[in-house]
Amino acid sequence: MIVLGIETSCDETSAAVVSNGSKVLSNEVASSIKFHSKYGGIIPEIASRMQLETISEVVASALKEARVKLKDIGLISVTSGPGLSGSLLVGISFAKALSLSLKIPLLGVNHVHSHFYANLLNQRKNNIKFPFISLVASGGHTSLFYIRDFDRIHTLGQTYDDACGEAFDKVAKILGLGYPGGPEIERFALKGDPKSIKFNCSGTKGKFDFSFSGIKTAALNYLHKNTSKKRKKRDILIKDICASFQDTVIDVLIKKSFLACKLKKSRILLLGGGVVANKRLREKFLNAAGKNSLTCYFPPLAYSMDNAAMVAGLGYQLFKKGKQSNLYLNMDLS
Ligand code: KG4
Ligand code: ZN
Repeated sequence: MIVLGIETSCDETSAAVVSNGSKVLSNEVASSIKFHSKYGGIIPEIASRMQLETISEVVASALKEARVKLKDIGLISVTSGPGLSGSLLVGISFAKALSLSLKIPLLGVNHVHSHFYANLLNQRKNNIKFPFISLVASGGHTSLFYIRDFDRIHTLGQTYDDACGEAFDKVAKILGLGYPGGPEIERFALKGDPKSIKFNCSGTKGKFDFSFSGIKTAALNYLHKNTSKKRKKRDILIKDICASFQDTVIDVLIKKSFLACKLKKSRILLLGGGVVANKRLREKFLNAAGKNSLTCYFPPLAYSMDNAAMVAGLGYQLFKKGKQSNLYLNMDLS
């Protein structure tokens, strides 16, 4: 079955064509990030206006790239939440109109869940068997899931406050670095000493929950207390804060997801979301996995960030299990 995926939960407008939940025939992503950068964060109004302007073109280009016609599409799978209201509405309305006019089945899919599915795309041989644990760390979410089947996804824990990527973005802003902050912190951390500053973000009530708001304030306080007028000293300080912050966050992600694997007796951990594009994170997870006899799966970089291929893939699996939406489909912000 050929599935058209549509994803507009944040700043991206993405459309993908995926065959049988696996082979990605096309995955177009138009980002409006350059219009948000100067504000240091996503401006929802700008995002949804850009999405309105680009969605028809992005869908047409995904179909063209995949060499399929609208009549070949067996399902339209669209992100129905969580995300920015205006942005979600653009994707959902477009998908509904297409579904109604062409009589193609429609399905609304949870965006955070779809991140783990990025690992199952384009796999010739699939060694990933249920049940498994998944950690999704993005700009809007940090969640640990116990996944027994595509329609049996149990949330073990999530962040109480800032999402992990949001913390990278905010710390980068505090340090005067660019947006999005994740890649900037990663770049500066390369020349910093990760052991130079003792940060902490492991204290939460729930053993699988996260909290990143305290470490953001700790980074701010550390910068103010130790800042120097000498440029060279200040540069070293920024690099050390980046390296120490990054390692502390990665270590807590490893600790909690490995604990989830241990308690749920799973040897498989699937990672997803923009933050897992981080090379240091990948290295540290793989290293720790080797020592704990676990197998970690990371999506290719293009599928770590928001994309419609993962939405098409998960939609296909859920549709096979009998799930379908009607034209009352609305955004689900929970
Ligand atoms: O999954 P994503 O593309 O969008 C959301 O669903 O939020 O994630 C975007 C987030 C941003 O906060 C960004 O700073 C972070 O992922 N990010 C990174 C890296 N690349 C992107 N965080 C750490 N290291 C990176 N290399
Ligand atoms: Zn996402």
